[in-house]
Amino acid sequence: MSNERLCPEHYLLRLRAAEFPPTLAGQFVQLQCRRLGEQDPAREVPWPAAGPPRLTQAELAGREPFLRRPFSLAGRRDTPAGVELDLIYRTVGTGTHWLAEVVRPGQRLSVLGPLGNGFAVRADKPRAALIGGGVGIPPMIYLAETLARAGKQSVAFHGARTAALLPVAVAGDAVSPAGRPTPCVEPFARADVPSVVATDDGSLGFAGMVSRAFESWLDAERLDPSSLAVYSCGPEPMMRAVAELCLTRGIDCQLCMERHMACGMGTCQSCVVKIRDDTPQGWSFKLCCTDGPVFEAGRIVWA
Ligand SMILES: Cc1cc2nc3c(=O)[nH]c(=O)nc-3n(C[C@H](O)[C@H](O)[C@H](O)COP(=O)(O)OP(=O)(O)OC[C@H]3O[C@@H](n4cnc5c(N)ncnc54)[C@H](O)[C@@H]3O)c2cc1C
Ligand code: FES
Repeated sequence: MSNERLCPEHYLLRLRAAEFPPTLAGQFVQLQCRRLGEQDPAREVPWPAAGPPRLTQAELAGREPFLRRPFSLAGRRDTPAGVELDLIYRTVGTGTHWLAEVVRPGQRLSVLGPLGNGFAVRADKPRAALIGGGVGIPPMIYLAETLARAGKQSVAFHGARTAALLPVAVAGDAVSPAGRPTPCVEPFARADVPSVVATDDGSLGFAGMVSRAFESWLDAERLDPSSLAVYSCGPEPMMRAVAELCLTRGIDCQLCMERHMACGMGTCQSCVVKIRDDTPQGWSFKLCCTDGPVFEAGRIVWA
């Protein structure tokens, strides 16, 4: 439907499918970042004595990657014309640059999903804090809508290195530098979820890590820890800081983990996460794509 630039490095890709299975916030899709039906026919390539063969097939040598790329669902709408899915992506390499440069309205893409488990909305927790960093913010948009429908009172924390890298529309003059929640981030304000913006370089909102902004909010609110559920997605050091804070204070916390994923459906074993359990060694490898990507914070064994 559209492929709109949100900031220098982020794009909002809106897809429409005639049908799509039910989805949950925290689930993801594997998107083929290449034109449909443009694979070269199979052919043999001679291996010259002088050195490696010159590969020319698009899937080996082209700028359209062979493997699909995982992206979290940032939103879903069921309309009479079909199911609309939102993905927000950051341009980091071959596949995401291809998406930004090539994909235009009307183009057909291959989407595999929904994949993974998604966040479990805690029925016994009336309050929620959503903590997203960088490309961990998109799944929080979908989660904010889900939690609003479930009647939870939520607040969202958004972290980025600098203001220009926030992948959401922010009303700059409504952001509180002291880290107080305000309706300053458009997709969250629509779901009645006030937001705190934190930037590492202090260019907008709270100056410092988003986990610190969350900690000062917790200190100011003095709420009963058993009433709160925390949901987080973003860079691993950020999620680890959030997890440790929640564990220390007895707050329920779920993390949406990220790994390099080749297949996205439990086949290639490339996406392991160490999860604490009652085996003799105390942990097992779980697959981020099928057992996760959402795990309880207290079960993750950090590297
Ligand atoms: C479950 C899941 C959900 C994700 N959701 C989003 C999302 O909503 N929006 C978004 O922008 N990105 C998301 N990502 C990350 C996204 O999949 C990668 O940025 C993307 O695959 C990069 O593809 P590329 O071809 O552009 O980069 P490549 O050319 O393959 O690599 C470029 C650089 O990005 C790094 N990279 C590639 N894939 C990953 C990865 N999976 N994790 C960490 N670093 C990676 C590489 O190491 C390399 O440094 C998600 C990843 C996972 C596993
Ligand atoms: S990505 Fe292949 S097993 Fe998880």
